[in-house]
Amino acid sequence: MKKYFNNIIKYSAYREVLRKVRYRLISKKEKAQVDTDFLSKEAITNIIDYVDNEIWKEGIELENALNQKWSKLQSKKKYKGEADVKLLYYITRMIKPEFILETGVASGFSSAAFLTAITNNKKGKLFSSDFPYLSIDNPESMVGVVVEDKLKLNWNLLLKGDRVNLPEILIKLSKIDIFHYDSDKSYEGREFAFNLIKPKLHQDSILIFDDIDDNNFFKDYFQNSNFYYRLIKYNSKYIGVCTKNDQILKNLFKL
Ligand SMILES: C[S@@+](CC[C@H](N)C(=O)[O-])C[C@H]1O[C@@H](n2cnc3c(N)ncnc32)[C@H](O)[C@@H]1O
Repeated sequence: MKKYFNNIIKYSAYREVLRKVRYRLISKKEKAQVDTDFLSKEAITNIIDYVDNEIWKEGIELENALNQKWSKLQSKKKYKGEADVKLLYYITRMIKPEFILETGVASGFSSAAFLTAITNNKKGKLFSSDFPYLSIDNPESMVGVVVEDKLKLNWNLLLKGDRVNLPEILIKLSKIDIFHYDSDKSYEGREFAFNLIKPKLHQDSILIFDDIDDNNFFKDYFQNSNFYYRLIKYNSKYIGVCTKNDQILKNLFKL
């Protein structure tokens, strides 16, 4: 508890903590309202049948390597996220983007997926927004801990929370080719980030939202909109991928 309060002071995290407390209070209500029919009827459950196998295999190898690295950091288990490394690597290799923006880094599985794909593509930059976990000692040292130093050349990482980081990052970006959202899981947090980044999206931008089964944000914003989307079941959760150009989705996932 002392650690937690010290970190709140160290990172001036008062607003972020209030937001988290508020989300704890409303998350059950948001979850209870989720349209589970929408998710279960539309989601792809066996993604491997719909992707380019060669590139997918590279993603599997990367995921195994990251898990191995992680297993050597036993004591830090708490700080592991659950993004689908294979999917993020796959989309980045297929699209070959110039600019990727992600929210939510934690130990860095998603960041490592993007940065490894960027290195293999020989093209691209990753901008990441995170907020360190307040309940561990020296939390900054754990952010992106699985990302190899040699990959960090193409990485711009900010740690002051989305509300501060995203406006700072957006000033530097002329456009966003891939946006991955995996930070504040509340409806309000998603809405805030999406509305902020919208002006930097173009016809072919790809948006990936993790844990869309937390609330109805994805359905409300993308079901009846000018975006096309695919839902992917990953372990016991759902990921939403959308873009205004349906041909891109058809090339990524051969349905
Ligand atoms: C699920 S984890 C991210 C996992 C990561 N994408 C991965 O693949 O390893 C969520 C991260 O978002 C951070 N976070 C939570 N609220 C945030 C906010 N408002 N702004 C920025 N980061 C936030 C958490 O501290 C945590 O590091």
